[in-house]
Amino acid sequence: MKERNITNDIYYIGADDKDIRLFEAQYEVPNGMAYNSYLIKDEKNVVLDTIDKNVTKTWLDNLEKSLDGGEVDYLIISHLEPDHAYNIGLLANRYPNMKIVGNQMTFTMLPNFFDIADLEKRKVVVKEGDTLEIGKHTLQFFMAPMVHWPEVMVTYEQTEKVLFTADGFGKFGTLDTKEDWDCEARRYYFGIVGKYGAQVQALLKKVSTLDIKIICPLHGPILKENLEHYIEKYNIWSSYQPENDGVLIACASIYGNTLEVAEKLKEILEEKGAKKVVLTDLVRDDMAEAVEDAFRYDKVILTASSYNAGVFVPMEQFLQKLKERNYQNRKIGIVENGSWAPSAGKTMKNRLQEMKDIQMVEPFITIKSTMKQENIKELQELADNMLGGE
Ligand code: FEO
Repeated sequence: MKERNITNDIYYIGADDKDIRLFEAQYEVPNGMAYNSYLIKDEKNVVLDTIDKNVTKTWLDNLEKSLDGGEVDYLIISHLEPDHAYNIGLLANRYPNMKIVGNQMTFTMLPNFFDIADLEKRKVVVKEGDTLEIGKHTLQFFMAPMVHWPEVMVTYEQTEKVLFTADGFGKFGTLDTKEDWDCEARRYYFGIVGKYGAQVQALLKKVSTLDIKIICPLHGPILKENLEHYIEKYNIWSSYQPENDGVLIACASIYGNTLEVAEKLKEILEEKGAKKVVLTDLVRDDMAEAVEDAFRYDKVILTASSYNAGVFVPMEQFLQKLKERNYQNRKIGIVENGSWAPSAGKTMKNRLQEMKDIQMVEPFITIKSTMKQENIKELQELADNMLGGE
């Protein structure tokens, strides 16, 4: 149990799901998923969030071991999404004297999921800045609406200076996965929270005055060191600034001819000294990683086949995902392919026009079925214009 202690009084009672294939029924998670839940033991024992259905048993075992015969006095609901909230009903039945802490929106939404006995008597409604004293520890609540859902709030434990951040600072992968935080936290951020940059910025501003020693998110590792690094990443991501100089070539090719163009373009960009070039095959590669890379780098080149008088579907989906997430502030080039009436380029351009601060880079290139010598010259020109200033 020792390794489960975050501090003397704060216990990790969450669980890893190593069998899950798709998180939120859409994101590939080759290294599984961690669902975090916490117990603070004091004069009053407090649980911060329950857990996903698939790991209920492990969580209950962890809770009971950590309680060591004690009761749960309070449940704090940071977020009602079922990956954290699935077991609220179970916990409320098991500890009938347990109070349930949430905000106005939490209690508006809670009955949609659960019918909790005596909820009116058991609920503790908190608002911005309210505190709850549980003994040595004092918990303070800050609202974080739309840092994924409208009822989200974060909790700051004042004595040990721990911030419980709900989905914020979350990451794909189980806790025992040895991998870089940035990569899977970025893919998680842009997949799940990316649309809500303004709300994340508001939260960062709000908590910037707190002295934070430990960040406890609801997914991924507990962050105890070098917190500036993670906060800086969140600041870049939520303000839609590019994180690195680099070019993402996103390609949607039906028979491989467009992919050949994309591969040639990568070679040309590298020859011309591009710092980093990433080619993603939107048909076969992970779409969430393509979205992540589009936000990560400052330049993107879209290469796609024409299809049904529009653009080949994986590119349409990619652009839709970017738009949903308020994609903005990037340099973009376009290469289309079409055999008789190319339509991919115009369709991609129209989608980009719906986004903010997109700088289109010339030339706009049309390939007729297969790449020709003159197309290579155009690709070189596009590469030069893309890399201008590097
Ligand atoms: Fe991890 Fe928005 O739930």
